[in-house]
Amino acid sequence: MTSPFTVEVLVSDTDRLRAAEQDVRRGLAERPRSIPPVWFYDETGSLLFDRITRLPEYYLTRCERAILEARSEEIAAASGADTLVEIGSGTSEKTLLLLDAMADRGSLRHIVLLDISEEILRKAAAELQARYRVEVHAVVGDLRRDLVRLPRPGRQLWAFLGSTIGNFEPASRAELLAQFRRAMGPGDTFLLGTDLRKATDRLLAAYDDAEGVTARFNLNVLEVLDATLGADFDPGRFEHRAVWNPDGGWIEMRLRSKEDQQVKVAALDMVIHLARGEEILTEISTKFQPDAVPAELGRAGLGVRGAWSDDDGDFLLTLAAP
Ligand code: AVJ
Repeated sequence: MTSPFTVEVLVSDTDRLRAAEQDVRRGLAERPRSIPPVWFYDETGSLLFDRITRLPEYYLTRCERAILEARSEEIAAASGADTLVEIGSGTSEKTLLLLDAMADRGSLRHIVLLDISEEILRKAAAELQARYRVEVHAVVGDLRRDLVRLPRPGRQLWAFLGSTIGNFEPASRAELLAQFRRAMGPGDTFLLGTDLRKATDRLLAAYDDAEGVTARFNLNVLEVLDATLGADFDPGRFEHRAVWNPDGGWIEMRLRSKEDQQVKVAALDMVIHLARGEEILTEISTKFQPDAVPAELGRAGLGVRGAWSDDDGDFLLTLAAP
């Protein structure tokens, strides 16, 4: 007998439009100008990110997968979970390792996925349902808002992988971890992936690859805004930049205007003047000191149950519980 798979859409087109209007009105009026990274992930953006994960320079995914290959059984056993809740799941590729480990223990009952990209989510949900024959509940939503709205069957292992937590500045990071804590039940566990501090040249290469896939990923946000808000950004008039910010401890992705230009945003009835060389911040990607991770989890009311790194100490997986 096959179990159902359901897709629940928590962000309507109107929600998306309102959120984009707010983010762009606020972000492009501020200095430095910024656009939140959630707008990277239309279908094209999600597929470009998937290509990034296979680039030679982008070590994060390979390191995290190596840890999961070595430790998934241990993690599944320590969690005691029968439900995997994956936040920002994307294609759910690495998650197969965790799910296999749960299935091997005979404990896998439900899968819950949350992602902002509906197309990618549908594909992932169908594939997981076909592979594991358990109930898959896919939710299209924004992790900044929708953690508390997720269905909560069984005993849950919450997985927030890929160092997506690094996209948030310290204050919003603390708030997001606290939201995870609030959404979790007493027997639940939280598995957090974090990228660690390393030599700047490696970090810069990971965010500015030779093939230019990251540049296309970054520039794609302009096409998303054109489509969503009726803006007339021309990606050809911008260039991709990756910069290490030593004070924040993060990589910044920016889009630099190649010339003096005006951009119209029809939905906001707004015209933006950009000077040649002016930059828009599109993403921060924090690189953590290993000690900072248990400290931040602790402040959110989450105690560490286990932590695992790859051989070179590039990436860290931490299992925590309320
Ligand atoms: C998916 C947010 C973890 O910050 O490394 C990849 C996104 N940006 N290359 C990251 C990203 C540029 C990625 N995360």
